[in-house]
Amino acid sequence: MKIGIDKIGFATSDLYLDMADLAYARHEDPNKYLIGIGQSKMAVIRPTQDVVTMAAAAAKKIISQADKEKISYVIFATESGIDNSKGAAIYLADLLGLLPRIRTIELKQACYGATAALQLAKGYIALNPETEVLVIGADNARYGINTPGEPTQGGGAIAMIISSKPKILELEHETAAYAEDIMDFWRPLGHSKALVDGKYSAGVYLDFLKNVWDEQLQKTGYQPQDYGALLFHLPYTKMGLKGLRQILQNASIEDSSRLLREFEYARQFNREVGNLYTGSLYLSFLSLIVNSPNIKSGERIGFFSYGSGAQAEFFSGILQTDYQKGLAGVDYQAILNKRQAVSVAEYEELFENHVFDVENIELDYQEDKSNFILAGVQDYRRKYLSR
Ligand code: CAA
Repeated sequence: MKIGIDKIGFATSDLYLDMADLAYARHEDPNKYLIGIGQSKMAVIRPTQDVVTMAAAAAKKIISQADKEKISYVIFATESGIDNSKGAAIYLADLLGLLPRIRTIELKQACYGATAALQLAKGYIALNPETEVLVIGADNARYGINTPGEPTQGGGAIAMIISSKPKILELEHETAAYAEDIMDFWRPLGHSKALVDGKYSAGVYLDFLKNVWDEQLQKTGYQPQDYGALLFHLPYTKMGLKGLRQILQNASIEDSSRLLREFEYARQFNREVGNLYTGSLYLSFLSLIVNSPNIKSGERIGFFSYGSGAQAEFFSGILQTDYQKGLAGVDYQAILNKRQAVSVAEYEELFENHVFDVENIELDYQEDKSNFILAGVQDYRRKYLSR
């Protein structure tokens, strides 16, 4: 039986900040952000948006009535949770109008969360092949104004339907996982912004990559030539490029140039959105299958998932014949092109108005044209609107 990704959807803010504008405001050379970090634009999240509304927007793009009847499990991976107790998946299931006879959970391990959700879903579908699992990776990446992490912010949501009839990607059996307790990036309770040891985190990312790549090589014998593309968690796109270069150290010139070429397609959307935390690796996958004219069904795609703290996993899947159908006809480049630019001052105001630990607030949502809105908070209860 095949198990894998049947459909994939993505949603982000309708607002963005140009990285060159941010660089000028921070007295940096724009090329530091554009080339050195590898980011062109950064999603700016409105106060009327959060992980639930963005996840609902991503899922709505792909969920049919037939899916609604088959989904029996919603696994919502996020490190930008809106409640310490109640899971975001319940709000989401309600906004999407899913049937009540389902399981809903929220799951956390930094940016690794969506991969944990995917692997859980794989096991669940093995036992329940007639059903579907909705997997979400949604986050709002926040480091703070004028911090070194600022150019690596962003946000958005990925939604994936996992089933036994995957149109997009069949997950392969072997995976390599590695966990070790380290403090490279974390967000203590009560903090709305992440704390990070930036340079250290980048080093740990590469160490963990070496660890799981070597283990997967030992288990499967797959070398760079066995992959049509290699994808990475992209906290900023230069990080993935460093990872790919590390893997390609002993590869042939032909394999190196082919995998570097595909990486450019795979980082195209991430470059325009910024860090999605849990969703970043899967946004890169979406970017590859939407933008690459070279990638073919039957090819093996390698995935490196990394979540600070830290947990890593390397796994792979085989691209399926109907993979384009799993995109549900959505034109993501057109959606990204239609976004509205904000000034640095506007971004700073929106950033400071982020709704966090607020007892009561009525939000003005007139300018937010999204289908799903955070309308306010009453007695610490979030009020969502669907339209
Ligand atoms: N032209 C071209 N390149 C330039 C340049 C210019 N004018 N000026 C600087 N650069 C290059 C630098 O050489 C450097 O490149 P290398 O990394 O290849 O050496 C790059 O731009 C960045 O410059 P700095 O290292 O000086 O940047 P910084 O100290 O201001 O911060 C950062 C960079 C550490 C990534 C910081 O943005 C940060 O802390 N980000 C958040 C942490 C993070 O994303 N870590 C990644 C691993 S952890 C993870 O993956 C989980 C997660 O999602 C958070």
